[in-house]
Amino acid sequence: MTFTTDFHKATVYQIYPKSFADSNGDGLGDLRGVIGKLDYIADLGADYIWSTPFFVSPQNDNGYDVADYYDVDPAYGTMADVEELIAEAGERGIGLMFDMVFNHVSTEHEWFRKAMAGDPYYKQFFYFRKGKGPGVPPTNWESKFGGSAWAYVPEFDEWYLHLFDPTQADLDWENPDVRHEIQKIVRFWMGKGVRGFRFDVINLISKAAFEDDPDGDGRRFYTDGPRVHEYLRDLNEATFGTDPGIITVGEMSSTSMEQCYRYAGADTHELNMVFSFHHLKVDFMGNEKWVLVPPDFARLKRIVFDWQTNMAAHNAWNAVFWCNHDQPRVVSRFGDEGRYWKESAKMLATVMHCLRGTPYVYQGEELGMTNADYTSIGQFLDVESLNHYEILQRKGLKADDALRIIQVHSRDNSRTPMQWDDSQYAGFMPSSPASASASSHAAAEPWLAVNANRDHINAAAEIADPDSIYHYYRRLIALRKELDVIAFGDVEPLAVDHPDVFAYRRRWQGHELIMVANFHGHDTEWTGAEVPDLEGFERILGNYADAPHANTTSPVSGLRPYETSVWYR
Ligand code: GLC
Repeated sequence: MTFTTDFHKATVYQIYPKSFADSNGDGLGDLRGVIGKLDYIADLGADYIWSTPFFVSPQNDNGYDVADYYDVDPAYGTMADVEELIAEAGERGIGLMFDMVFNHVSTEHEWFRKAMAGDPYYKQFFYFRKGKGPGVPPTNWESKFGGSAWAYVPEFDEWYLHLFDPTQADLDWENPDVRHEIQKIVRFWMGKGVRGFRFDVINLISKAAFEDDPDGDGRRFYTDGPRVHEYLRDLNEATFGTDPGIITVGEMSSTSMEQCYRYAGADTHELNMVFSFHHLKVDFMGNEKWVLVPPDFARLKRIVFDWQTNMAAHNAWNAVFWCNHDQPRVVSRFGDEGRYWKESAKMLATVMHCLRGTPYVYQGEELGMTNADYTSIGQFLDVESLNHYEILQRKGLKADDALRIIQVHSRDNSRTPMQWDDSQYAGFMPSSPASASASSHAAAEPWLAVNANRDHINAAAEIADPDSIYHYYRRLIALRKELDVIAFGDVEPLAVDHPDVFAYRRRWQGHELIMVANFHGHDTEWTGAEVPDLEGFERILGNYADAPHANTTSPVSGLRPYETSVWYR
């Protein structure tokens, strides 16, 4: 099979293997489970699979705490399984993208263990620093998961930096030996036939200065740091840059657009594209996620349009997405889980998939999977959620109020098991523990509880229904390959100030595409000179079966709840 190497036309399907498919009935998803579902992903039309990490790990952050980059965690399978996965995906024209976590390693990684044993060579792989006084860390920086970003080591009377969990120690990229080890790892996986890489929080690898941040959490000292572009160019040159068939995406935490022109410029020799998250903070208060505020639609549009037009003007490329393993489910977040579940899920997909960029679909998004239906804190497992549940209560919130916030923002919302069918465990694993195979710790249940709405939201039901969200995603993924205007066209924002309408025009070599969506659950009117004249256009997609209301000005002047349509000429 041949691969779609043009990432402008490609769609990436993201898998969180722990929650995708469990082949051996131990309650944890695994690589053989993924292999068993490759035909499903191929039918959807995806060109790449990005899998979150399955390397050896104590799993304190579900694999983002890597203890050995050269081997597979036995909970997920074996090296032979990875090789089979790469080969079987390749048979279907699908490339594997691996998730490389290089800002930090697990404290169980050999490098860190040697450092803790006092080996000076490996101590320099990390940031060990003296505190400002007894019991006072070197700086006041906060961990992204809550608490101080420094952990104390009594043996050395020093602290080491961990921007995430204390068991995720930050690597010191200033040390050239660290950079060479990382390059070796990337080349190792290239040698196995991996076709792409996603680099975890890669814009945090260059730390500017270890100073207190009087009015922030410290991020300004390590976000988009002074040497990050140099490090990425070196990595590119020494590894994936030698193979134009490999695609790369960097996860950019709290970045700026100006930096992304360089990270993802067509000729800057860093990465192919970036994930940025500003559009997913429109239901935060500033950078504060652990609050309940309604999504700010005006801000969402402004941010999306800014990134679309400016990245294009600077010849740089976006990854476009609503969902991943760190975000709540988009239909619960910006759509409607109830009456307009199907319409709103299709509308959200349309808004994203007609943009300029490479779309990423997160497992279950193509089914309209919703947030977890958990009603007690005991059902949540994510370290970030559990930490913030405590922090919120220390700040004075009642347990119930803290729980409400966790229910809305928890990363576990996207990590509930994939809903394959309507059986007890949604087909994620065999329903009866008796049918579990010879796994030594055969569990009766999935590691994280299945959502009860599997009875109607599941792959089997949606494959059978031609009007399903699943089939709508297939169409969108196919359209990007059929119409160059989607892959390559310019983006002109429309209805910028409208309180309900999300709309834009794409143009490419005499072809035009117009996407119109009502982002809200009530009827709306779109009038005025700006409403496009759709004379000569064909309606090629929409989420209401019947034609739009006839209207004197334009067929898109009156929009029903969450109505969307796509027009082409
Ligand atoms: C990224 C990952 C997230 C992880 C963090 C630390 O944000 O997507 O899941 O917890 O990096 O590695």
